[in-house]
Amino acid sequence: MRLDRYLSKTLRVSNKQVKQWLECDQITLDDAPCKQGETLVNRFSRIQVEGRPLAHDTPLYLLMHKPAGVLSATKDREHTTVIELIEAQYPHLDSSDLHLAGRLDRATTGLLLLTNDGAWSKALTRPEQKIPKTYLVTTEHPIPPEAVERFAQGVWFDKEGVTTAPAQMQLLSDTRARLTIYEGMHHQVKRMFALYHNPVVALHRERMGNLVLDSELAEGQCRPLSRQEIEGI
Ligand code: URA
Repeated sequence: MRLDRYLSKTLRVSNKQVKQWLECDQITLDDAPCKQGETLVNRFSRIQVEGRPLAHDTPLYLLMHKPAGVLSATKDREHTTVIELIEAQYPHLDSSDLHLAGRLDRATTGLLLLTNDGAWSKALTRPEQKIPKTYLVTTEHPIPPEAVERFAQGVWFDKEGVTTAPAQMQLLSDTRARLTIYEGMHHQVKRMFALYHNPVVALHRERMGNLVLDSELAEGQCRPLSRQEIEGI
């Protein structure tokens, strides 16, 4: 919403009053003076009027090292969810508003993002965004070397009616590879290896865009993202 409209609505004052505040440098937005009523604000914007701060929500951006067996969901009757792990780590945090920016299967481990900022997670998970996601893959049978070229060409997914973006795969051993994909389709990695009738027995996400899973972050633990990380992705 526009700043001027937000102020007149929240403080129940006239447009004339808002205009006057703006003209007389009585408004700050995110700690900087603001004269433009058309500036867009949201529930996280820090606004002061005549030196008095208005209420705002605090944005949260968390990077989790997801353990195997934990569900990428907010609630579940059967399995522990990633939200329950966050509540255990931060008992005073308001987790009601947290959601996932991209899921991992229950057995998959590694980097998972959670936030209460819907605009950020939406931008991140838009298919056009093509954010690289790197996985360590372990398969049941040897990986045929020709899969490197086939994945680099992109593979056709009938269900979605799309060809995947060229993926990079580095073979680490007969049954282990490092794979970078650019979409987040349901069971995407498993379905790519299913083309070779080769079940994925372990899957671990190491990276997502500029974000790397820190080696010192224990399984089940989270850390807040830095401003640079939030904006950089
Ligand atoms: N691809 C999969 O098959 N599973 C995941 O959890 C992530 C990517």
